[in-house]
Amino acid sequence: MERYTSRQAASMLGISEEELRKALREQREDLPARDPEFPDLYPEDLVEALRSSLSRDKHPVAEERSETLASIFSVTSGKGGVGKTSLAVNLASEFSRRGYRTIVVDADLGLSNTHILAGLKPTKTLSDYLEKSADLAEIVNDGPCGVKYISGGSGVKEMADLDSAGRQSILDAIQELRPYCDLILLDTAAGVSKSVTDFVSISDHTLVVTTSNFAAIADAYGIIKIMVQDGYTNPMHLIINRVRSPEEAEQVYKKLKGCTERFLSFDLNWLGLLPEDNSVEGAVLKRSPFCETFPGSVATRYLKKLTTALERYLPTVPSNVS
Ligand SMILES: Nc1ncnc2c1ncn2[C@@H]1O[C@H](COP(=O)(O)OP(=O)(O)OP(=O)(O)O)[C@@H](O)[C@H]1O
Ligand SMILES: [Mg+2]
Repeated sequence: MERYTSRQAASMLGISEEELRKALREQREDLPARDPEFPDLYPEDLVEALRSSLSRDKHPVAEERSETLASIFSVTSGKGGVGKTSLAVNLASEFSRRGYRTIVVDADLGLSNTHILAGLKPTKTLSDYLEKSADLAEIVNDGPCGVKYISGGSGVKEMADLDSAGRQSILDAIQELRPYCDLILLDTAAGVSKSVTDFVSISDHTLVVTTSNFAAIADAYGIIKIMVQDGYTNPMHLIINRVRSPEEAEQVYKKLKGCTERFLSFDLNWLGLLPEDNSVEGAVLKRSPFCETFPGSVATRYLKKLTTALERYLPTVPSNVS
């Protein structure tokens, strides 16, 4: 069997000699013994045992696999700027508070901003993952309220122009996360291109966000139509944002539901509304979820109702409730 110096072993494992000594201390009981004749050398089987224990420790989200897979909810809209990201970050925070292990994947590739709303500065993103300069564990960041975040890279042209093979690698990575959490929220880009529909197509539930603005309603119909025509059959739920009265939201819902039933034979579900509320923008400025910074706000009250309405679709009970 080959034997290595500590410098060689550390470099084979991609860690420093200090980290090697630490790993050895922490794992001493379970590791293959060293040859007493060469106490300073690391036998091959010891290096391999350290390698597998280090990669186990580096699992992206948790060491334990669940028996159930996480549900995937995508948040999409057609039109830009209607509140997808604010909603995704705050829904994730509220689900996490209720004990669901939640991950937000920023699928607005190249123009990611969930991390900004969560007050994070990720050093590695999906862009590094695709370039193979970071593994999945390294791009998962701990955010407020116990939510984990994966950024899609910001101002990265290659990500904005990603081809279908690149997107498929991201979709595969998302699937890889599923045994280790309860809920994955995908914050998509605006529009109806493949860079949006590919993400929506893997979701168990789609949250379609619109405002009462006519163009936003038309674009919400556009994304629903494209998904239905592409063969998407999972539930789609409407959320109407920035409304000034429940009646206003009801009118928008009736209009859209009428169109999807009549022209697409698709039953659009009503999920709820978020009112126009300055605390949403106020929290963006403070780089934190509004439900954390302004827990008594009207927006937070309605967010909780939305979360409860969605919670019934989760097959799992919260993992983190003792
Ligand atoms: N309910 C609300 N009340 C007041 N302001 C809101 C509300 N919802 C969202 N906003 C504001 O609208 C702006 C756009 O929100 P957000 O970035 O979440 O939209 P988006 O749909 O993700 O945009 P994009 O399509 O560019 O990704 C933000 O400045 C946000 O603070
Ligand atoms: Mg957004």
